[in-house]
Amino acid sequence: MSPPATQPATRPRVYITRRIPGEALQLLETHCDCRIFDHEDTPVPRDVLQRELAEAEGALVLITERVDEELLASAPRLRVVANLAVGYDNIDVAACTRRGVLVTNTPGVLTETTADLAWALLMATARRVVEAQKVIERGQWRTWSPMFLTGQDVYGRTLGIIGAGRIGGAVARRARGFDMTILYHNRRRRPELEADTGARYAGFHELLERSDFVVVLVPLTPETRHLINEDALRRMKPSAILINVSRGPVVDEKALYKALTEGWIWAAGLDVWEQEPIGPDHPLLALPNVVGLPHIGSASIATRTRMAVVAAENLIAGVTGRRPPNLVNPEAWERREGRATNG
Ligand code: GLV
Repeated sequence: MSPPATQPATRPRVYITRRIPGEALQLLETHCDCRIFDHEDTPVPRDVLQRELAEAEGALVLITERVDEELLASAPRLRVVANLAVGYDNIDVAACTRRGVLVTNTPGVLTETTADLAWALLMATARRVVEAQKVIERGQWRTWSPMFLTGQDVYGRTLGIIGAGRIGGAVARRARGFDMTILYHNRRRRPELEADTGARYAGFHELLERSDFVVVLVPLTPETRHLINEDALRRMKPSAILINVSRGPVVDEKALYKALTEGWIWAAGLDVWEQEPIGPDHPLLALPNVVGLPHIGSASIATRTRMAVVAAENLIAGVTGRRPPNLVNPEAWERREGRATNG
């Protein structure tokens, strides 16, 4: 029997490294021959990934997968890697570009959800929300008393945003409702952000020294690894709170531990960690002034579903010869097109 007229006789083989929302899977199945590591909570073992990519033209991967030279060497037919995340430090983009492999991410759709989570951490650390619940759970709530579990005000204080991209902008917009002074530090000035929110550009050191809340939102690159190190933490106010919703290695955790135990800063809210996943014995979790989360910045049902659909759309475009909407390495596309036009 011949295949339906709407589908080419052979469809591109793609590999999906985890169970994804049905909407995204159905979309992929319409256009591609899909194989999937159909597990909810287990990352695909490296050898399985290598074996599967030997035949695949496209891969939908998560941040738990390292896409490096070694993996690419065992994936001769691979043309697209669609990351189910906005950050793509798990992928060696330069190596992909050298091989003409397109890399895509999922920007835009997770901006507001991640900004909400940054604010959830900010509020929780400022007002000691988690610590306060533990007091009840441990049967330690005896009475109302004047200075019991007192925290930091948020309203009217100074917010410093390091890395003012889409999410940083969304964090700043929320700060207007709290009548905050907003500082930002970024690779380039953002006049539209300044006009929208009243945010003021500040040098890195000035931002650290003046902010009551420092929210870190930079991508992880060789330049930003341990950007928040001992020197940066010592510059912050003793009453200041650090929030990290970007990537764990941007913060030097050993330095942060010292900062929190020796009172250089007041508290930290962390969604991301140097080595993920962490367990209950992580030293920072033992501190009452740390609120720690398991990397859930973009984890709303609607947003994770949209991210999966966007990743699927990027993958389908790439394996069917169209330029993916969220291409991270346009050089790889040009290389591929050049090859096509030059024969
Ligand atoms: C998640 O961390 C992402 O980068 O989307």
